[in-house]
Amino acid sequence: MAEPTPAHASVPSKLPEVVRFNKVTKAFGAGANAKVAIQDVSFVVHDLPDAGELIAIVGPSGCGKSTLLRIIAGLRPHFPATSGETHVFGKPIEQPGSDRGMVDQKYSLMPHLTVAENIAFGLKLRGVGGKERRDRAHDWAQKVGLDGAEDKYPSELSGGMQQRVSIASTLILEPKILLMDEPFGALDPKIRMQMQELLVRLWREQQSTVFLVTHSMEEAIYLGDRVMRMAAKPGRLVEELQLPRPDEPPEVMRKRPWFNELTQELLQRLETDAPPAGELPGLEKWQRHA
Ligand SMILES: Nc1ncnc2c1ncn2[C@@H]1O[C@H](COP(=O)(O)OP(=O)(O)OP(=O)(O)O)[C@@H](O)[C@H]1O
Ligand SMILES: [Mg+2]
Repeated sequence: MAEPTPAHASVPSKLPEVVRFNKVTKAFGAGANAKVAIQDVSFVVHDLPDAGELIAIVGPSGCGKSTLLRIIAGLRPHFPATSGETHVFGKPIEQPGSDRGMVDQKYSLMPHLTVAENIAFGLKLRGVGGKERRDRAHDWAQKVGLDGAEDKYPSELSGGMQQRVSIASTLILEPKILLMDEPFGALDPKIRMQMQELLVRLWREQQSTVFLVTHSMEEAIYLGDRVMRMAAKPGRLVEELQLPRPDEPPEVMRKRPWFNELTQELLQRLETDAPPAGELPGLEKWQRHA
């Protein structure tokens, strides 16, 4: 079977692999009624020394972004794939695991538990004792800017605060792979930028590999080390683009002309389902600037 091309040409292939998809197809239903969600998707994410990669996934509605994420997470009905190989850390994916954590747009908080209890919930399931749970939940509430809100219930929180609880409750478990499905979709632009910065900070601390599905080209370019562009009908991976890491806050970077050039080009490629078109123009200016 053909080897998927490593996304980083410069990455020595002997580095351990975090995720490998090889010709992965997922169809829902069978026979004439089968609906192909993704077709022949291949990519590799390596375990870079001291730096988890952030992969932004973009593409039109229905191109299979959530399907791809949920296969990595081992979540049904998307998992298992209909054909192809799906590996994490060199082993076939068999089920959800503590090495992977998912944050989605729905927040999935437990309404009858306080902020602190929600944040600590996964620790409780893992048998971590009460005192340690409370201490760690308190640390995480601070990290995501929720100190003072620890005894509140989800219904008393704004959307942005609920999303922080959701992120903290996933990150507290220190997953090596963080899967985020449009996590900031429901937030207003200002809170959204704050959350982007928070995510960059936390991710640098944890050095996990992050897959982030987003409909915002700016977010993909700002946050992504790599952008996976997908297209629909059938859902497929069209191209992978490498990007530098942000060295400025999002509100500063988004005003730079080259940043605009990059986002416009990516948007254009996405809207026209353009075939693989190589590096984004504007990238050199960013690199020169950095
Ligand atoms: N449980 C399911 N049963 C049948 N078909 C499904 C199921 N989940 C997804 N699909 C189909 O698979 C395709 C890909 O869906 P998916 O949710 O992965 O797309 P997406 O890129 O995440 O879209 P969006 O941007 O709207 O969230 C769609 O055509 C969808 O209708
Ligand atoms: Mg989706």
